[in-house]
Amino acid sequence: MAGKKKENTLQVNITNDEQWNDVLAMKGLTVVDVYQQWCGPCRAVMSLFRKMKNELGDDLLHFATAEADSIEALEKYRGKCEPTFLFYAGGELVGVLRGPNAPLLQKTIQEELKKETNVLEHGTGRKVVKDEGLIEEEEVNDDHQHDEDVMVPAHKSYTVALIKPDVVAHGKANEIIMKIQDAGFVILAHEERTLTEAEVQDFYQHKATEPYFQELIQFMSSGPSHVLVISKTEECDDVIPAWREFIGPPDIEEAKMKQPESLRAQYGTKSVFNGLHGSNDSERASRELAFFFPNFRMAMADSEQETVERTLALIRPDAARENREEILARIHESGFTVAMQREVMLSEEQVRQFYSSHLQEEYFPRLMECMTSGPVLALALVKQGAVKHWRGILGPKDLIQAKNEEPECLRAQFSAGNPSVNQLHGSGSPEEAEREIRFFFPTEQTLAVIKPDTEHREEILKEIRARGFTISHMKDTVLSRDMAEEFYKEHRDKPFFSQLVDYMCRGPCSVLVLTKENAVEEWRATMGPTDPSVAREMAPESLRARFAKDVLENGVHGSSNTKHAHEKIQFIFGDIDSESDLIHDAASPPLEAEESFAELKNLQASRSPSFDQKKNQTEPSTTFVYNRLLKEYSRFITG
Ligand code: RTP
Ligand code: MG
Repeated sequence: MAGKKKENTLQVNITNDEQWNDVLAMKGLTVVDVYQQWCGPCRAVMSLFRKMKNELGDDLLHFATAEADSIEALEKYRGKCEPTFLFYAGGELVGVLRGPNAPLLQKTIQEELKKETNVLEHGTGRKVVKDEGLIEEEEVNDDHQHDEDVMVPAHKSYTVALIKPDVVAHGKANEIIMKIQDAGFVILAHEERTLTEAEVQDFYQHKATEPYFQELIQFMSSGPSHVLVISKTEECDDVIPAWREFIGPPDIEEAKMKQPESLRAQYGTKSVFNGLHGSNDSERASRELAFFFPNFRMAMADSEQETVERTLALIRPDAARENREEILARIHESGFTVAMQREVMLSEEQVRQFYSSHLQEEYFPRLMECMTSGPVLALALVKQGAVKHWRGILGPKDLIQAKNEEPECLRAQFSAGNPSVNQLHGSGSPEEAEREIRFFFPTEQTLAVIKPDTEHREEILKEIRARGFTISHMKDTVLSRDMAEEFYKEHRDKPFFSQLVDYMCRGPCSVLVLTKENAVEEWRATMGPTDPSVAREMAPESLRARFAKDVLENGVHGSSNTKHAHEKIQFIFGDIDSESDLIHDAASPPLEAEESFAELKNLQASRSPSFDQKKNQTEPSTTFVYNRLLKEYSRFITG
């Protein structure tokens, strides 16, 4: 790196403690680039510094480079990969910047210079800082013992690069490293190591069938390589193609012809000895990173480390009645997806079952009273870190505390006037969430029929699977007249009954048993409203909206409640239903009231968000049916 010092008259190069003290004693502002010996100072910013020095020409502005390893005062910066710029004035640290962010550097230099000029001219106080980033990082390291970890900022793409043994043997590694930095790449990690044959075999296992594989193993294990983790300065840049472009085509003859400026054209020696490596794509990059730096960890924000999970949310009766839409809006705003939704009138027994671990608490009687006072809205919410985030926006359990300490939280905002019980529940852990979701959305079976003459049968089957239903039984059959009459016996007195029976036995239909959490309601929501013209209005994505001919020939059937599902499955398939306990679960609403309830739910589920605006435009029959069901439902929940 001797060559670098010569060309570098802009920056004072500090290599020992004595020089360090001298530089710090200089009058004015000194910008120190703290670097590691292996990578040298940050070359990406030199032109900026030169430009600023030329433009400002200020005697009070100095630039220096300092190698962390040889200066005692920089002990804490040893082994840190990211370029660090320290701003010193009057021997004190007045600013710190990490990363070669040119615009920010320029701005900070201008500001700090102005401040220091003020200090010197007007005797104003100098604001001394501590390197917070350094302190934080130390604490993190102490806590987690991650001292050898490689940090890759989450928002940046990275690639693994190798400077292969041929180039290293020719003493060109440092020269290449400088070129890499000059081109604006940032080296996040660097290690010199000789790969063993086994490691090379492992690393290049995707090349195992190539005729040159043995030669490749010999070559790659013949001496030290440099392993680098590289990202690019501009955050939006995808470094993987940029790096591959920079090194050029794998075949060095081609590289020399087509991209003579590329590293492989300049440093490769012969076909397999092509000097350099870069990851093929981000998936390879992450595997290669894990291969060379097993301790690596992404410097991710918490949210990015979280896995997508589900949580159970309950909106208790008072708030479900009074604040339902506002709460749902807040849920959507906070980035949750409502995977399943169901309104349930719980019996006392069900409340005891759900809250079995709270039976002895002094508040249990109030909780019981609240939970059985009307329908509870249960939601399965999905998001990264859903459990934690939902509890986060709920706020404290205690309503007084919630209102005093976090007035913006959901519990404080939507207490529906009930001072004794908060109106919202969230699962305590991912395991608890799954248990609670099973309680409210038990795995069910439902019967689905693709009715005679329905086109797009394959597409419908595909959609069934895509929506996560398991087809546990399926048969194609032509229903006899008797069977069709029995199947739809609930409609015997309806004016359309004989037409319906004609239709149903007109040709073959496919009968399916579908299994899924909440299958009955979900399949009905997937089908959409009975009448396709209503379906197109209220649930345009539904099967009936897309494939049904008219209100009679509406393409598909689905059981309207768990009792019907059980009966009709038996009717068509006989006694296949060994897991009948799946069908009648504790959380299911009482059966007598269930049919109208399920139909209401179906309508609600297929309501588009803008239903209230659309309501007046839809056919009177829809509004009528909806209102009728609403009335029946209120009778059911109140009486
Ligand atoms: P499905 O039983 O077939 O799943 O349909 P659904 O619950 O949505 O409707 P439902 O009221 O049970 O009616 C059963 C089937 O009868 C035919 N229908 N025709 N002409 C009409 O007004 C009329 N209404 C109903 C449809 O084939 C409907 O699916
Ligand atoms: Mg029906």
